[in-house]
Parts: sequence; structure tokens; C-alpha cells
Amino acid sequence: MFDLKSRADNTCPLAFSIDLAHKGQDNVRTIAAKWLVCCAHFVLERSGYMLEKIEYEYYESVDSTNERIKERARQGAKEGLTISAMQQTAGRGRIGRKWESPPNECVATSMLLYQGDIPRAAIPSITILCGLAVRSALHKLYGLECQIKWPNDIVVHGKKICGILVEYETLSNGESYLILGIGVNVHQHKFVKEIADKATSIELEIDKKYEKRIHRKEIVEEIWKSFLEYFNQFVVYNNLCCFKKEYEKYLVNRGERVRIENPHNTYEAVALGISKSGGLLVEVNGEHREIKNFEVSVRGLYGYV
Ligand code: ATP
Ligand code: BTN
Repeated sequence: MFDLKSRADNTCPLAFSIDLAHKGQDNVRTIAAKWLVCCAHFVLERSGYMLEKIEYEYYESVDSTNERIKERARQGAKEGLTISAMQQTAGRGRIGRKWESPPNECVATSMLLYQGDIPRAAIPSITILCGLAVRSALHKLYGLECQIKWPNDIVVHGKKICGILVEYETLSNGESYLILGIGVNVHQHKFVKEIADKATSIELEIDKKYEKRIHRKEIVEEIWKSFLEYFNQFVVYNNLCCFKKEYEKYLVNRGERVRIENPHNTYEAVALGISKSGGLLVEVNGEHREIKNFEVSVRGLYGYV
């Protein structure tokens, strides 16, 4: 039933079976694939690999929700704890950058997640899953057509509406964990001048006739609910192969020339898609490369996107 060549591309026969099901081969294979997925879920659930429960804590203002999660992890908090706030006084972005989180205008939320022995290696994949979860949540709640700017930005009409920061920390007992941080611009109509031309908010983007009120709790809970579904599917494969198609559908600049900026040099490339470990696949002078370093910036040739 399993083709070894195909299996080599995936982590387990399950992934191959599911591929067959997707290709709509015969019914027996489809049923077998579904059955195998059920078995995998059963085993993984009982062995504690799946994220089972999300706990929500809300605060008016904190320094950084990522920092609050770290503090709680040191005190022994369980996986699935989320801390959310309506303001951050020291919100952080990638590479030590600042994340603007003004009072009453945004929402910042972070989750504690244990992810194997080397959680640091999972940062690219988990960042991709967070991006998919935010995109799906904002589409479901407000009909927003978001795109994803690899590795960690969610954009609408070429402007940034959300940033994602996944970090890891090791406790004194040697155990490591991830902190998944997500910041969403909700009610802002104005931004500080440094980001005025590249930031947007839900309120600026939704249809003006849209009657529904925006509740920040609803945003937080929809994002994490969606993340839980993506994550528990990810656990079955332990790679991103089944999300590649969906992610690439929303990848901003896909098929276009982009500028890759890293600390040492800047060059042009064509953005092609993502690898199964979350790297960006690009073409440079006819040669295919994978960008694995999350500290690079991928910009449009004439601006942010
Ligand atoms: P790139 O990946 O191209 O470097 P970027 O400029 O968005 O994109 P990131 O490290 O992903 O860089 O995000 C941090 C940046 O986000 C900050 O340097 C700032 O320019 C911008 N930023 C800060 N707060 C907000 C906000 N609330 N909304 C949108 N953008 C913000
Ligand atoms: C970026 O775009 O560079 C990432 C921004 C991440 C912001 C979120 S808000 C919740 C969490 N707490 C922080 O201090 N940062 C992240």
C-alpha cells in the first residue's frame, strides 16, 4: 500500500495515506487513510502530544504578554495557558524591535506551549501555524482577506495588521518551552509616524457597513481555537507538508521579486513558497534556495510588501 519513495518525503506512512486521500484515489485507500489518521489521533492524544485545553487570563495592561507567560512558566504553569492584555507597556517584536500596543486599541495575547526536547527547532513551524490561525480567525470573524508575509506578519491591503513573535526559554530544571506571542491592531485609526504608512487595524479594514461590534475577547479566543486545530493536525505529521498549499495561497509576494535583507547582505529573489520545516523557498539567479534564518526581512522591491 505504501510507496517508499513517497514515504521518504514524509515523516510517517500516515502522511502518505492522507496524500492519497487528497488525490482522490480509490475508496478503500481513502477509508484506510482516514482510519490511520483516527488511530494516530487516538495514540497522540493519549500520549500527551496534543494540545488539549486552553486557559484564558485577561488583563488591562501588562509589560509584555510574552514576559508574563515566561514568569508563569517558571512558576510551573501548564501548557495551553494564554495571557492577553489590552495594552502592553513594553511590547516586543522580532530582533529586539518595539511592538506598539496602545491602550484600548489593540490586543496582545501569548500562549505557553511545550514542544518536544528541542522547542527552538520548532519555532519556524509554530510561527507558520500561528499565521494560519490568525488569518483564519480574522476571516471567520470579520470576513477580512488577510495575507501572510513570511515569516511573521499578517497583512491586509499591503499593511500590517498583526505581528507574531515565537520565543523559547529553558527553565532551571532543563525543560524548555515556547512562548507564542500575537499582537493584533483592533481599533486604531492612527499610528505613530514610524509605522503610519505600513500599519492597519481591523476597524480600518472592515466593511464600513459592517454592523457587528468588535470584541477583543472574541478575537483572542477564535485565534487560539483555530491554532489548536492547526497544531493538533501538525502533531500527526510533525511537519508542515499538509499546510503548504494553504499557506502558499495566502503568501504575499508569491511568484514576485522581493528583496531579502539580512545583517550581512541584501539581494533580490523570487518568492516561491515554504518548505515543510517553515523556511521560505526562493529562486536566486535561476538557483533554488531555502531561507531558514528568521532574522531576515523579506520586503517588496518598492516598500514593505
Ligand atoms: P520585516 O519582516 O520586513 O522586517 P517588519 O518591519 O514588520 O517586517 P518585524 O520584525 O516583523 O519587522 O516587526 C517589527 C516592526 O513592526 C517594528 O519595527 C515596527 O516597524 C512595526 N510595528 C510595531 N508596532 C506595530 C503595530 N502595532 N502594527 C504594525 N506594525 C508595527
Ligand atoms: C513582530 O512583528 O516583530 C512581532 C510582534 C509580536 C507582538 C506580540 S504582542 C504579544 C506578544 N508580546 C510581545 O511583547 N510581543 C508579542
